[in-house]
Amino acid sequence: MSRVAFALAACLALSGCSSSDSQPEPEPFPEKDWPAEAATLLEGSDWYRHAVFYEVYVRSFQDSDGDGIGDLKGLTSRLDYLKELGVDAIWLMPIMPTPFKDSGYDISDYEGINPDYGSMADFEALLAAAHQRKMRVIMDLVLNHTSDSHAWFSESRKDKTNPKADWYVWSDTPSAPNNGCGTANPTFGDSAWQLDPARGQYYFHRFYPEQPDLNYQSPAVVDATLGVARFWLDKGVDGFRCDVIGLLFESASECDLVPETRDYIKKLRKVLDEYPGRVMVAEPSKLTDASGYLGSGSDMFHMAFHFGYGYFWGLPFAAQNADGIVDTFEKSLATYPAGAQDALVIGSHDVQRAFTVAQGDDTKHQRAALIQLTAKGTPFVYYGEELALRPGKQEVVDQRDAARTPMLWDGSAGHGFSTGQPWIAFGGGADQYNLEAEQGDPESMYAFYRELFALRRGRAIWGTGAMEVLETGTPTVFALYRADDFMAYVAAVNMSDEAQVAELVRPELGARTSRVLGAGTLTLTSGGATLSLPAQAGAIFRVR
Ligand code: NOJ
Ligand code: MG
Repeated sequence: MSRVAFALAACLALSGCSSSDSQPEPEPFPEKDWPAEAATLLEGSDWYRHAVFYEVYVRSFQDSDGDGIGDLKGLTSRLDYLKELGVDAIWLMPIMPTPFKDSGYDISDYEGINPDYGSMADFEALLAAAHQRKMRVIMDLVLNHTSDSHAWFSESRKDKTNPKADWYVWSDTPSAPNNGCGTANPTFGDSAWQLDPARGQYYFHRFYPEQPDLNYQSPAVVDATLGVARFWLDKGVDGFRCDVIGLLFESASECDLVPETRDYIKKLRKVLDEYPGRVMVAEPSKLTDASGYLGSGSDMFHMAFHFGYGYFWGLPFAAQNADGIVDTFEKSLATYPAGAQDALVIGSHDVQRAFTVAQGDDTKHQRAALIQLTAKGTPFVYYGEELALRPGKQEVVDQRDAARTPMLWDGSAGHGFSTGQPWIAFGGGADQYNLEAEQGDPESMYAFYRELFALRRGRAIWGTGAMEVLETGTPTVFALYRADDFMAYVAAVNMSDEAQVAELVRPELGARTSRVLGAGTLTLTSGGATLSLPAQAGAIFRVR
């Protein structure tokens, strides 16, 4: 936004404002030393409520040794980029040894490092380098299943009497005890049971046949997997993203979060609580209701992904109707226990790139990110979203690889990712949409993300301030009111291809208005405010 546009917006927002110099300038809103505030907020035990998280696929982030595969040393060399961008914590997709049937979500050794990515010493160096920069590192904890190459499974499948015979879910028939839980997900095949000729029984696999489900009815499995968590906590990791954690216990009627699974999660939480400042975020299986993962607000997960927004925003944007977004945030406001924190995404390694969901419309991607970064909660940005990375075409593991292509650092042949042949072809538009090109363009997606991250920095209001979904009287306009003791904001997006004027209903919305990002005007009225947004625009206004 140009300075001229900003001055005009501030002027329009004040009744009686004229272009003459005789009018006194309004008092600026009070500010704080935001970097100092950020440092304080990120030091306390509530750090995760104020952090920007960033999901990294190590394989695709930065290669350090020219083998075409991203690695831990490469990621370490890019920490300064992330720090500068405004990232406070990174989530690593699985980095353990794996036959790579499910991109590392098939783990063959819970206490090792995938040699493609480096060594344990490289991991420890990454952790130390991150901590030295006051950044946190959480890792994927994949406890529902192992790889069929894991030593536990090799032992379990030998016969029906070995010490680990009951560590996996075995059955004489390809059905009980979990009809309905082994859904025919086309990504993972059409049966959830696989005959093992050696043992003469079927084993249950919720995902690929090479990912047998662990049997949590066995107390030894409970102990062993809690031990895995301890192993990494002892190394100093700051927490976990828990993969399909609702599916741990199989049952005849219900798959997601049966009482035994809830009990297990509480045990896991107790383990984390033995270590100060560690956090865990759930990947809910029910995509439209994460509340069950949050328990009392302090006995289960610190956070759960809000997929009701994160994986569905493309539909309301395409339909130019915000009702679905209003509903999902009203539901989370109503059903989340006090103390629980929303984890907000607009994409991940499992779904299409934000660029694709936005149908190539950058303003749509930006409006979705604006909601993600201004709604109450903690944002998790998927690597490359800040560049609007385009999808790839090559499939190495499965169709989800379209959203897992290498990070694009510059316009050179290897795009700064690798000096060798990359393990998978780069995504589209790589010469034009890479960090180097976008850094030089004030209109780029990268510039937009930097601006949003800077606006969050140090301001506790975004992570913990109160939130209201405002009535706008029009389904094409979505607006949030955020307030804490110190300040208040209105964040709004117009989902329509036409300019919109909306009456925001909320008496005492603010003292006066100043637009801090985007385009449009907000004029306070006695009942709330009148919001004008150009076509396809989003804006953030400070109102107190
Ligand atoms: C969820 C992960 O996000 C996905 O990538 C994986 O395929 C399944 N869980 C199985 O681990
Ligand atoms: Mg490498």
